[in-house]
Amino acid sequence: MRRKSPEAPDLSAIPPGCLWGAATAAHQVEGNQHNDWSEWEPDHAHDWAQETERRLRHLPNWPRIKSEVRDPANYISGYAADHYHRYPEDIEIMKSLGLNSYCFSIEWSRVEPSRGEFDAEAIEHYRQVLLELREAGIEPFVTLHHFTNPVWLEDAGGWHGRDFPVLFERYVEHVVSQLGDLVTFWATVNEPESHLVSRYLGSPIWPGWPHQETSIRKYFRARRQFVRAHKRAYTAIKRQTPQAQVGFAHGIVWFESRSLWTKPVVWWLDRHGGTGEYRHMLNYQDFLGLQYYIRNVIRPRFSHPVNWAKMPHSERKNDVGWEMYPEGLYKLTQKLKKYNLPIYITENGTADSRDELRADFIRDHVEAINRSIQDGADIRGYFYWSLLDNFEWSSGFWPKFGLVEVDRNIQKRSVRPSAYKYASIIENHKKAHK
Ligand code: GCO
Repeated sequence: MRRKSPEAPDLSAIPPGCLWGAATAAHQVEGNQHNDWSEWEPDHAHDWAQETERRLRHLPNWPRIKSEVRDPANYISGYAADHYHRYPEDIEIMKSLGLNSYCFSIEWSRVEPSRGEFDAEAIEHYRQVLLELREAGIEPFVTLHHFTNPVWLEDAGGWHGRDFPVLFERYVEHVVSQLGDLVTFWATVNEPESHLVSRYLGSPIWPGWPHQETSIRKYFRARRQFVRAHKRAYTAIKRQTPQAQVGFAHGIVWFESRSLWTKPVVWWLDRHGGTGEYRHMLNYQDFLGLQYYIRNVIRPRFSHPVNWAKMPHSERKNDVGWEMYPEGLYKLTQKLKKYNLPIYITENGTADSRDELRADFIRDHVEAINRSIQDGADIRGYFYWSLLDNFEWSSGFWPKFGLVEVDRNIQKRSVRPSAYKYASIIENHKKAHK
C-alpha cells in the first residue's frame, strides 16, 4: 500500500495547555510481574494462540502475521518491554518527541505484594519515574488499576469479592500518601467495563482464576463494586491532595444501528456501558477519561448476544482488523458535553506493524478533536496508545501499537516515522500558541 503523506491537521481550537502524550500500562510494558495475568498466561498461551488464529485468519495480512500469531511464546508477558528498568531511556524518547504528558499505571501487585503489606522499594521505583518525568517537563497521568490484580486479591474473590472497595481504597490511600506530592492527574481504574465484560461475560480469554465460570450475577455485582471502589478512591485522594484531578478511564465503542428496531439496543448499550456510564460517578470525577478505538454496528445474532456487535467492512483495516473511524471520537465527545467536565482522551491508537496507517490515524483523530472543541466539547488532552510495542493481553505481543518499535530480543527501541509526524503536530500546536 502506498503511504499517504499526512497534511497538517487544523489545531486552531485546541487549547494552549493541552496535554499531548502517549499511554502504557504496567503489565504490558514493565516485565517480570507476579499477578493474576502472569499466573494465567503459561497455562493458556496455547489456547490464546489458537483463539487469535481463529479470529484473524481471514484477514488479508494473515500470511504476514501467522507465524507470530501461532507461536505460544508470544502470549507470555515475561520481560515485556523491560520498561521497569529502561524507563529513563523511554522518558528520553518522549522528551525528544516533544510529548508533555505520559499516562502509565502503577502495578498494585508490586506495591502490595501480600495483603496489607506494602513494598517500599516498589514505591521508591515509581517515585523515581515521577521525578524523572517532572525533570523532563512531562506531566504524569497515573492510572491506579489497569486490568491486573494481585494474586492474593483474586484469592479473596477479585472485583466481586466483598472487600474489594475497601482494599482498593487502602491501596490508593497508601500510594497517594507516598506519591501524591508528584501527581496531579489520577485515573482510578482503566476500562472497568471491558475488564468486567471480558472477565464475567466474555469468552475464556481473561484470567478468571480461580473462579473460571462466567456469570451475569457476578458481573453486575462486580460493576457495583467498581462504582463503590471508585468513589472511595476519589474521596481518599481528595482528602490527602485536594488539588488533584481524579477520574477514571472509560473505554467506549461507538455503537451504530442500521435498522429501527436495533435502535433501542444501541440506546441501551450507550446508557449502560457507553457515555451513560459516567453518570454513576457524578460528583466523584473532576474529568472524564475517554478511550476510543472503534465503531461497531449492531446486528442481531441470537446465538450469542455478545456477537451482536460487528465492525463494518472497511478498506483501511489495521493489523488486528479494526477499521479507522475518527468520526466516532467526534460523536462521543459531543455526547459527553452534557456532563460539563473536561475530557481527556486517555487512549486512542492502532496496531500497525508496517507503520502505514498510524500517522493518518493520529492526524484524523486530532482533527476530530479540534472539530469537537469547535462545537463545544471541553477536550484538554490526547494520549496515543501506545508509547511502546507491548503485551496486548490475550492477543499477545504481536499487535504493534507503539510509536516506538521494540525488538524484545535485545530490547532495542526504534522510533517509528509516524511518531515524528505526531511530534510535528505537537510542535505546530506549540508554535501556534507562542
Ligand atoms: C484496553 C487497554 C489497553 C489496550 C489497548 C489496545 O483498552 O484494552 O487499556 O491496555 O492495550 O486498548 O487494545
